[in-house]
Amino acid sequence: MDLTLIDLPTEVVRTERLVLRPYRADDVAAVHRACQDADIQRWLRVPSPYTETDAAEFVTETSVSARAEGRGLLTAVEADGEFVGSAGLHLTPGHLGPAVGYWLAPWGRGRGFAAEAAHALAEWALGLGAPRVHLMADVGNTASQAVAVRAGFTREGVVRSCLDYRDGSRGDAVLFGRLPED
Ligand SMILES: CC(C)(COP(=O)(O)OP(=O)(O)OC[C@H]1O[C@@H](n2cnc3c(N)ncnc32)[C@H](O)[C@@H]1OP(=O)(O)O)[C@@H](O)C(=O)NCCC(=O)NCCS
Repeated sequence: MDLTLIDLPTEVVRTERLVLRPYRADDVAAVHRACQDADIQRWLRVPSPYTETDAAEFVTETSVSARAEGRGLLTAVEADGEFVGSAGLHLTPGHLGPAVGYWLAPWGRGRGFAAEAAHALAEWALGLGAPRVHLMADVGNTASQAVAVRAGFTREGVVRSCLDYRDGSRGDAVLFGRLPED
């Protein structure tokens, strides 16, 4: 994957309905409100309870340093100028290729935005020469698995015991992949 012509800190990805842009300080309140959601708390290892400080750290530090250090393209998803969720590409080294992740605020769901964002991030990475892109969803997270399929990913199998839950137990995830020819 060739990132030499990309300025990761400022990179914006656009789709028909969405703008995937760098986080801004004024996203903190929306991120904080969204991450009170039970589904986000259940399926993602976000801090629980999720405080305004957690949101500020994610928006102004985690997302910024990931871009600055070339580790990932974490984006705020905007539809009609409104923050509706988060989508990211983790530029993880290894055989599986970059990893796509997403969550939508409760007010952003039911319109196909996650699939559109995941599709766009996969296209972005494949367009820059990644031989494959992957996505993992908890075996119980059927909404996310449906997003993966709508985003053009193929179900490749189940990775056992790769998830570590807050209570110390472990779980299985479905592995999805997308190749340039898919
Ligand atoms: C997973 C999650 C992002 C799915 O959100 P979502 O809104 O259902 O997903 P999409 O953006 O793909 O929207 C699909 C829905 O919009 C509907 N839709 C409406 N207009 C649409 C359009 N133009 N294009 C596609 N779908 C459209 C679809 O029919 C579908 O509804 P359905 O689920 O009732 O069949 C959301 O539930 C979430 O944030 N969960 C918590 C965090 C999480 O699990 N993240 C993933 C971790 S792996």
